[in-house]
Amino acid sequence: MKSTAWFSLLGFLWSVSANPLVGLLDPNCQVVRGECPNENVSFWLYSNSTRDNPILLNPLDLNPWDFQPSRPLKILIHGYTGYRDFAPNSFIRPVLLDNEDVNVISIDYGPLVRYPCYIQAVQNLPLVSQCLAQLINNLVDRAIVSNEQIHLIGFSLGGQVAGQTANYVKRKMKRITGLDPAKPLFILGPDSRRLDPGDADFVDIIHSDVFGRGVLRAAGHVDFYPNFGAQQPGCMEENMQDPGSCNHERAPRFYAESINSTVGFWGRQCSGWLVHLLGLCPTTGPQEKMGYHVSEDVRGSYFLKTASQAPYALGKLEDVDNRQTLAKFHLNIDHNEIDDDYEPQLLEAFLELDAVNVVVKMDEDDLDKQLDWIDREEEEPLSRNVF
Ligand SMILES: *[C@@H]1O[C@H](CO)[C@@H](O)[C@H](O)[C@H]1NC(C)=O
Ligand SMILES: *[C@@H]1O[C@H](CO)[C@@H](O)[C@H](O)[C@H]1NC(C)=O
Ligand SMILES: *[C@@H]1O[C@H](CO)[C@@H](O)[C@H](O)[C@H]1NC(C)=O
Repeated sequence: MKSTAWFSLLGFLWSVSANPLVGLLDPNCQVVRGECPNENVSFWLYSNSTRDNPILLNPLDLNPWDFQPSRPLKILIHGYTGYRDFAPNSFIRPVLLDNEDVNVISIDYGPLVRYPCYIQAVQNLPLVSQCLAQLINNLVDRAIVSNEQIHLIGFSLGGQVAGQTANYVKRKMKRITGLDPAKPLFILGPDSRRLDPGDADFVDIIHSDVFGRGVLRAAGHVDFYPNFGAQQPGCMEENMQDPGSCNHERAPRFYAESINSTVGFWGRQCSGWLVHLLGLCPTTGPQEKMGYHVSEDVRGSYFLKTASQAPYALGKLEDVDNRQTLAKFHLNIDHNEIDDDYEPQLLEAFLELDAVNVVVKMDEDDLDKQLDWIDREEEEPLSRNVF
């Protein structure tokens, strides 16, 4: 396919606001090389009683009393163009504080991920992750919060921040939840840059915009694909200009609802996304609950449908015996037969490199400089002495 054709396809899949190339040449878009703590990365502590007056934390001077009585700690991480009251915070924090006896930290690194600077935002994530790791290390070292009590919940780029934080914490994290972890510029990079099952004892993922802003490929111990992870019901009506943004945001909405849903988001296991697309999944397979209350023993990919507006959860799925139909395909539905790592890599490659050459007229050296980091392995972790 010719590049121009790819571009129109992309134009369809991506709104301007989601196009990572928009800010490439904008002089106001900066990669910040800073140290931790950093004025551009702040941490706000919320509890049920301080929800309207959160405490701004100093990672180098933490007050143990702020965290008393001892409770599980949920750390919410926003994404591109976000801030501490943006998704997932806006959806999840109030439900957590209303229904669960937990403390919540909302990280705010808005100055480092401003529109239209997507490429620079991605390059700023290691700094954000180092600062978050510094906070976590200090909380745990000083026995203010135990490592087992900490759970990171990241949306979009925030999901990738959670994964990168694993590069800098002293102890392996207990749980990370990735809510539609961001795709653009993460597909071709090394594992150290993106969220994967190696980053915590348990990584659960919800995919809600796999053809747009979110990754398609399985990225956790368990991966849930509501509505195929693609077109979320209700989104065409809700946001005709940019249904992708609505699809993307469904992941934190579902997660928030899962905290106190009475029926629950139940998904059924299938060996992979493509197998499911081909209609080759057994419809009597095991079901598991998606979201906040997912069992940490669950492994694999799960599929479910949701309602088009809140409440989204539809409860358990009905068992329909389709084994005879499946038998006709003489297919051993097995990971080895159908490779389910079929992320639209071409699209990605185009987006990351080709598009820049073809579509944007620019100075070659500058382009090289901007994209150089994509090929480079992760820089050596920030020396421990900044912590
Ligand atoms: C904070 O971010 C701005 C850009 O948004 C940058 O100019 C400034 O140097 C950053 N400050 C630090 C301490 O990194
Ligand atoms: C869950 O909690 C939210 C408030 O945080 C409330 O609005 C909602 O009605 C609750 N849902 C159920 C099913 O109780
Ligand atoms: C939060 O505080 C209110 C009273 O201010 C109380 O009724 C509620 O039970 C508390 N919620 C939790 C989860 O502790």
